[in-house]
Parts: sequence; structure tokens; C-alpha cells
Amino acid sequence: MEIDVLTLFPDWFAWFMRQRHVQNAKQLGHRLSFVDLRASTPLKAGQVDDTPYGGGAGMVIRADVVEAALTERYGGDPLGLPAERRVIALAAGGRQFDEALAEELAAEPALTLLCGRYEGFDERVHEHLASDVVSIGPYVLSGGELAAMVVCDAVIRKLPGSLGHEDSAVEESFSAALEGAPEYPHYTRPFDWRGHEVPEVLLSGDHGRIREWRREQSRRRGARPD
Ligand code: ADE
Repeated sequence: MEIDVLTLFPDWFAWFMRQRHVQNAKQLGHRLSFVDLRASTPLKAGQVDDTPYGGGAGMVIRADVVEAALTERYGGDPLGLPAERRVIALAAGGRQFDEALAEELAAEPALTLLCGRYEGFDERVHEHLASDVVSIGPYVLSGGELAAMVVCDAVIRKLPGSLGHEDSAVEESFSAALEGAPEYPHYTRPFDWRGHEVPEVLLSGDHGRIREWRREQSRRRGARPD
């Protein structure tokens, strides 16, 4: 898989790139690149944003700036890009990111993530340059960088081999193996921590009973009202 992140702050991703599963994915041949939106701006003095039509606080990232970055990266007319690859604009008002969307994106050969800043992108970026507008939750971040990291993390850990342990991503929260429910509780040593003991079934050595107990715990968690 090839992931390109277009951002005004590529430095933010240096830490993310050092993480083990990301390194594993790289070694497996997947590619993650960061493109500075400012580097290709057609405007003077590195300008990328402008005041909003109609007035109001904040600045808006211009569509022609995003267009220039996409043209520089991929060539051709970026209006045709959303038909060729998933171009995901990150914005608080977008479609809520969830495990199903992570699965869907992990199956794509290539992703482009567009990180907004300030008041976000000119709406025409969402409408004409992106295939998807995605939010990681109903709250407002200072920009799309953390959201892009969340999306990359959830997607990369689904790439076979990236976790180093093939089973780790199979039976985890929201997976098909758990019928979409949250994961069951985990325990490790000590057996007795301040009077709180590990459920007896986990020490029984009876794998059938353990499996059934875990499924039941997972189902209960899924049914629990928030
Ligand atoms: N940019 C600002 N807030 C965001 C959010 N909640 N999700 C994705 N991108 C954002």
C-alpha cells in the first residue's frame, strides 16, 4: 500500500514513522510519505490560506493550493484523481471513522490524506478533489494531522505482518471474529492484585470454556449502553 499525507506540518509525523508497526509495514514494502502543502503553493511567500468569503474568523486553505500539491505529486488533472485513488480530506464534519472504514481503506492499494488547518479546506476541495471527507470524532482538532495519524495507525495495523504477530489484529475489538463487538477483558500477573483476582476460568486450561467466556464478555460489552 502507498499512503501519501499532504500536510502543512510534515514534521509532526517523524515520531509516528518511528513506531514499530509502521517500521514493519515499511519493511514489508508499504510506503508512507509526507508532502508539504506549502512547497508547491502557486501563491507568493508560501501562502496557502485566505480569508473566508462572507466574513468570519479564521483562515481557509485554498483549493488552488491543494490542486497544485496534487498536480505536483501525481501529474495530470487532480479533478480525475478521486476516481483513481481514495483521496481523504480530514475534517470534523466528515463521515465518522470506524473499524469498518479502516478495513475498507486497508484493502486499497493507495490512499491520499489531506490534512486541513485553521478553519479547514475550501469546500470545493471536499467536493471536487476528495473522494471522502472523514472525521475521527465529533470534536474539533487544530488540524487534520492527528486525525491522519489515527487513520494511518488503524489502517497500517491491518496490513498483514505489520503487528509482527498475525493473530493480534484478528480477534480484537469490533472485528468480524467478535461479531463487531468490543474485545473481551485481558488479565496478566499478578493473579491477586490488591484483592482483585483474575477470573478463575482463565486459569482452568479449558480452552473451550475460555473461548466461550471471552465471547460472552465481548457480547456483554457490545450490549452495554454508553
Ligand atoms: N480536523 C479538525 N477536527 C477534526 C476531526 N475531528 N476529525 C478529522 N479532522 C479534523
